Amino acid sequence: MKDKLIIFDTTLRDGEQSPGASMTKDEKLRIAKALEKMRVDVIEAGFPIASPDDFEAVKLVARLIRGSTVCALARALDKDIDTAAEALKPAASARIHTFIATSPIHMREKLHMQPEQVLAQAVHAVKRARKYTDNVEFSPEDAGRSEIEFLCRVLEAVIDAGATTVNIPDTVGYNLPHQFGELIRQLIERVPNSDKAVFSVHCHNDLGLAVGNSLSAVLNGARQVECTINGLGERAGNAALEEIVMTVRTRQDVFPCDTTLDTTQIVNCSKLVSSITGFPVQPNKAIVGANAFAHEAGIHQDGVLKSRETYEIMRAQDVGWHANRMVLGKHSGRNAFRARLIELGVVFDREEDLNAAFNRFKELADKKHEIYDEDLQALVSDTIQESAKERIKLVSMKVCCETGEIPNAMVTLSVDGEERQSHSPGGGPVDATFKAIESIVHSGSDLQLYSVNNITTGTDSQGEVTVRIDKGGRIVNGLGADTDIVIASAKAYINALNKILEPEERAHPQQI
Ligand code: KIV
Ligand code: ZN
Repeated sequence: MKDKLIIFDTTLRDGEQSPGASMTKDEKLRIAKALEKMRVDVIEAGFPIASPDDFEAVKLVARLIRGSTVCALARALDKDIDTAAEALKPAASARIHTFIATSPIHMREKLHMQPEQVLAQAVHAVKRARKYTDNVEFSPEDAGRSEIEFLCRVLEAVIDAGATTVNIPDTVGYNLPHQFGELIRQLIERVPNSDKAVFSVHCHNDLGLAVGNSLSAVLNGARQVECTINGLGERAGNAALEEIVMTVRTRQDVFPCDTTLDTTQIVNCSKLVSSITGFPVQPNKAIVGANAFAHEAGIHQDGVLKSRETYEIMRAQDVGWHANRMVLGKHSGRNAFRARLIELGVVFDREEDLNAAFNRFKELADKKHEIYDEDLQALVSDTIQESAKERIKLVSMKVCCETGEIPNAMVTLSVDGEERQSHSPGGGPVDATFKAIESIVHSGSDLQLYSVNNITTGTDSQGEVTVRIDKGGRIVNGLGADTDIVIASAKAYINALNKILEPEERAHPQQI
């Protein structure tokens, strides 16, 4: 029997910490349901003390996820731990994850604490968390740059205090695979009570080594990996779940353990996270990139046709790639629509939202005869945006483009319930539209990124537009989908403006 490798997904916590990736509680729930369907063992749902919204999001996930353990992050502070425990109350299986930094630079420059104080606070935090649950994880932040003797002392003490998982983060992505593997091997060997806890790793990708470091740790005894879908996460991101899981699965000749994930859900999860956060997946990204299984060059194609194994080490269908499947059409009724959404993990609490989504579906089916799962996901995002109490809504727009003429856009918005109209010329139809919108809203934000992708194949596909805007250093993403990409662009821009106009007061776990 092989050991089990526990997959701990932190897309909703560390992933959400990447600038622009913040999610609403409903969006978090949709992702959590997809992770549960994929049989992820632990879902880190957020950092409840950060804000009332974060608290509510963790509580909602804890209430509705039954198949995975739901985890909440807490600094090694009483108020953080108590708040995390409160948010996790409805969970069927709950874990509190508490942490404090142990590297000399973090203790000196950030915490202004002596090592002995850090050790005492770590033990106190674990004991407090154990009052609420017997599933407690402890992380010595910046372990990758900590002194091994001190790490050993802290780990021994927190395991004695009741930590059931000890997680070793390479917080700044500084380690090399052979070094990090050796660190894990030594910790397991030198910490006297190491057999009383699961050793976990959490690697950041600053040098592009997050997956390599995590796998090296697994080869040296780690039995939990913390990772995110598409490698989303702060700065260069975290270790990508899909790469960890598929490497372990594909190289069973090397790994002494395996996961219990349903890998056929990987592509779905990847698309969902990308479309909710507005972080597109690069085409050549391993496993989930559009080209990952495309054998373009003639020589490869010839080889693959003769024998799949010539160039393929995994089967595309094993990670959930399939040709777009038509799931609904013009004549599909409300029940078929609702049933398909349930299969996708989408349940509307309010009947009027389901009705609104169904009306959108009918409109879309008039323009586009075959509706795919990807269309439905975009449609659900649009409906949720619409039903949210957004200050700015698109009422109508008219854009004129003609060779030799300057493009012109006329836009009518509803701002706080009052209709306002503006028109503007522009370098192109999107530029004209954005200028017209900005001349109504006066947000003062800068456009940092604009991208458009087709949701499915074919020229009648919906275009999904992502925009990223920045106002005084605060970055948000906006998304919009439509068969008309200029309308999709306007929706995306308005979605981003609604977010940037909303005041954000939110604590960051790693800033004291
Ligand atoms: O990168 C890190 O150190 C973290 C901890 C909170 C585990 O995210
Ligand atoms: Zn992290």
